[in-house]
Amino acid sequence: MLLKVENLSIELGEFKLEKASFEVDKGDYLIIIGPTGSGKTIILETIAGFYQPKQGRIYMNGKDITGLPPEKRGISMVYQDYVLFPHMSVYENIAFGLRKKINDEGMIKREIERIAKVLKIPHLLNRSPTTLSG
Ligand SMILES: Nc1ncnc2c1ncn2[C@@H]1O[C@H](COP(=O)(O)OP(=O)(O)O)[C@@H](O)[C@H]1O
Ligand SMILES: [Mg+2]
Repeated sequence: MLLKVENLSIELGEFKLEKASFEVDKGDYLIIIGPTGSGKTIILETIAGFYQPKQGRIYMNGKDITGLPPEKRGISMVYQDYVLFPHMSVYENIAFGLRKKINDEGMIKREIERIAKVLKIPHLLNRSPTTLSG
């Protein structure tokens, strides 16, 4: 199982979420539906490691990652609002995260070019994100 969430309870200020359990296999899409403020974002942020749950466990590929810090989980999160640095080019925005992991500019450049090709955006790498459409 790629992701397993077991009896996850989260408390943040006034907010309480109790005993959420679900599993996601490789290639699955899981859709969480609920009214505004019901805790959808908080569940994702807890899986990513931004919050420590009050109870429950999170497993990735069978490994318990509940206690791991976000940078050790290898999980990415894409928010509905664009979380981009407006003063940096598209290239620099992508490079920012890679530089935390890779210490070789040549390798970073090759990785960005690879990702850009997959996303069909090589022509946008030098643009500012403020000049792009959604
Ligand atoms: N860091 C936080 N501390 C305390 N309360 C929070 C925090 N983040 C979100 N909340 C509250 O938790 C509830 C769930 O938020 P959220 O997960 O963003 O809802 P959703 O994504 O389902 O709209 C909301 O009432 C929100 O105000
Ligand atoms: Mg939300």
